[in-house]
Amino acid sequence: MGTKAILTGDSTRSVHEEEPYDEETGSIIAPIYETATFGFTKAEEVPAAIAGKRGWVYSRWDNPTVVRLERKVAAFEKGEDGAAFSSGMAAISTSLFSFLKKGDHVVGIKDLYGGTFSMLHSVLPGIGIETVLVDTTDPDAMSDAVKKNTKIVYIESPTNPTLKLVDIRKSTRLAHDNGALLLIDNTFASPINQNPIELGADVVLHSATKFLNGHADLIAGVAVSSKERAHRIKLTRREFGGTLDPLPAWLVLRGMKTMAIRVRQQTKNAQAIAEFLSGHRKVARVNYPGLKSHPQHSLAKRQMKGFGGMLSFEVKGTMKTAMRFTESLKVGSLAASLGGVETLVSQPSNMTHTQMTAKERADTEIPDTLVRVSVGIEDEEDLLKDFGRALDSA
Ligand SMILES: Cc1ncc(COP(=O)(O)O)c(C=O)c1O
Repeated sequence: MGTKAILTGDSTRSVHEEEPYDEETGSIIAPIYETATFGFTKAEEVPAAIAGKRGWVYSRWDNPTVVRLERKVAAFEKGEDGAAFSSGMAAISTSLFSFLKKGDHVVGIKDLYGGTFSMLHSVLPGIGIETVLVDTTDPDAMSDAVKKNTKIVYIESPTNPTLKLVDIRKSTRLAHDNGALLLIDNTFASPINQNPIELGADVVLHSATKFLNGHADLIAGVAVSSKERAHRIKLTRREFGGTLDPLPAWLVLRGMKTMAIRVRQQTKNAQAIAEFLSGHRKVARVNYPGLKSHPQHSLAKRQMKGFGGMLSFEVKGTMKTAMRFTESLKVGSLAASLGGVETLVSQPSNMTHTQMTAKERADTEIPDTLVRVSVGIEDEEDLLKDFGRALDSA
């Protein structure tokens, strides 16, 4: 394979980044080191391996296949290193616990993935870490919430499921001015459409289950940061134990080879569906940062390279109307996940955001009539026909 110098385009990098020939056999595909532990022939080599200076010890700590994935995601996110986990939530929780202790304070946003919302709203306060969730699109609210003991500002952008944006540069400046770290979940955008580290973020989190892997066939997560912080996250990971296994790590590496072409097609399809829905008589509102009508469209243009494969919309009618729409699709399917090659729709109020009360959902503009769409790579015409037909029968 070529040298790093020619790995400039996203598709070229998707295929070749961190994919050297196997030294021993010349295999063009990286081997899977599906092993729990690594042996030594000389006892005197053990201390250097334990200290992380040379060699490998135990796959809950580090594994060559997993490290390859961590470096690949880090390269795409313009970070120095990464840590791979057995789920996106393991990446998020372990990263939070790497930088927090009892008595610390966290500022988050109200619009968060349900699992993260629960972590910030219930789990952290339960162990003496104070948290506050502020209005997602109001930088003043975030600034007012920061206190002396704030250690982390935690954001998602675009948010799940309402596709609101947070100004990443502004939030980073606010966090840094107060000696805190900015952690961001970049799952919805994918590294093809947004690179928060370039905008100052300290830790970028991914549910690798989604766009990174892209095939809805495994659960994984990655945290990317500086070398030092990634190391700290990996040390916490050793004790929490949520390290990714080598086989799914290898599958994510395989999935990532098509990441750029998948995400480009998903982004193109999402724009077409968003425009189609915007003009539809049975649709009350469409949330997609690529629409000129999106209240933060100009921020989207500033901080995103593409507007992404996720959108949501409110159908006119009742929860039942939305349910009928989701059941009536023939190309798309009703399922909770996102970021795969197949189009999936879900109803956040009874699927992904059930950890929130009805009032909390109302506060963050998640009505029962909201449908979230993870747009796949199918042909645009088929998707538009499918959505039109399902809306007519809803
Ligand atoms: C934005 C976002 N972050 C994190 C997660 C959690 O990821 P995982 O299911 O891989 O633990 C999800 C899951 O849907 C998500 O949508």
